[in-house]
Amino acid sequence: MAAAPGGDFLAACRRQPVERTPVWFMRQAGRSLPEYRALRGSGSILDAIADPAIAAEVTMQPVRRYGVDAAILFSDIVVPVHAIGFGVDVVPGRGPVVAEPFTSSADLARLRDLDPEADLSHVIETVHRVLAELGPTPLIGFAGAPFTVASYLIEGGPSREFTKVKALMRADEGLWHQLMDRLVALSTTFLAAQINAGASAIQLFDSWAGSLSPKEYERFALPATKAIFEAVDGFGVPKILFGVGTGELLSQMATSGADVVGVDWRVPLDEARRRVGEGVALQGNLDPAVLFAPPSVIEEETLAVLDAAGIAPGHIFNLGHGVLPTTDPDRLAQVVDLVHTHGRAGV
Ligand code: CP3
Repeated sequence: MAAAPGGDFLAACRRQPVERTPVWFMRQAGRSLPEYRALRGSGSILDAIADPAIAAEVTMQPVRRYGVDAAILFSDIVVPVHAIGFGVDVVPGRGPVVAEPFTSSADLARLRDLDPEADLSHVIETVHRVLAELGPTPLIGFAGAPFTVASYLIEGGPSREFTKVKALMRADEGLWHQLMDRLVALSTTFLAAQINAGASAIQLFDSWAGSLSPKEYERFALPATKAIFEAVDGFGVPKILFGVGTGELLSQMATSGADVVGVDWRVPLDEARRRVGEGVALQGNLDPAVLFAPPSVIEEETLAVLDAAGIAPGHIFNLGHGVLPTTDPDRLAQVVDLVHTHGRAGV
């Protein structure tokens, strides 16, 4: 039986049987690809994202090279705040940097709503160009979850300890929730624009939610994630929620309204399944660092992930976090072949 167009990825999101386990990689488009480095040059990534010809080509590069089961739009979680002029740049090798971080209620006024036509026309145009080339392969749209976006706005850049974020949420919970509301609006509009343009699934990146305790997550982060999923639920596209180091939060993430919960490499998928229950699919979870080991080890570890996922429907193979920039693309190609050959049919 031939899979329906784009079938296996979307079927797995919905916990339906698949022909082959679907596979894609977070950061599959990016510096690990020589064709990306050749096209990108040295300008800001935000300029590359703003150019639909470049952004569409970069989105397509890993699909052509690897035959992955989904494309992910070439964009970034700070695109919405950049578009409304909050003053953010993405520094190569470092990440998003904010010139004037969010510190007080006066800064709420700097977070106006997005106007999709005026602020996101380049994103919409990129989606259209990608769809024209993509064929039946689904396109994943994405946004940052409010907690993770807020961490950049408040810390002013990448952080390990999140001291300013945690201080603000504790010192002024009212302001924190007002900030979350602004970021819910921005991410919802960003996702809706991508879905309206033709994205057939979405992923919310709450990359740094794992820095929170379960109690903190419940109070300060999960409500905003739920609000976004509720707002886009009517589109009927699968919704994926991902974070790093979220082993202790998985059961709560499964209550967010997500159809799929991403798992990093720290929790085996059979244990993750026990934590999330039967109501969601799982995505993950090969350690991206394993790709630097010899091919025999990569094979062993890839098969171990498939084994832990079991034969029940509802597994999308991915790495536990994004592709590291110095990864050899041939190793990713090896993983795609292994997953497509050995992934359980789920029937
Ligand atoms: O292929 C894909 O997955 C789509 C592209 C994508 C990018 N950013 C492009 C990008 C995605 C899904 C993102 C999301 C994103 N951006 C997240 C969530 C995912 C995660 O990693 O947890 C976060 C935290 C950001 C913020 C951000 N942008 C960081 C931390 C960095 C890395 C800085 C660096 O140079 O190491 C970026 C820049 C960025 N975004 C790059 C890419 C391909 C690399 C920089 C470049 O090519 O100029």
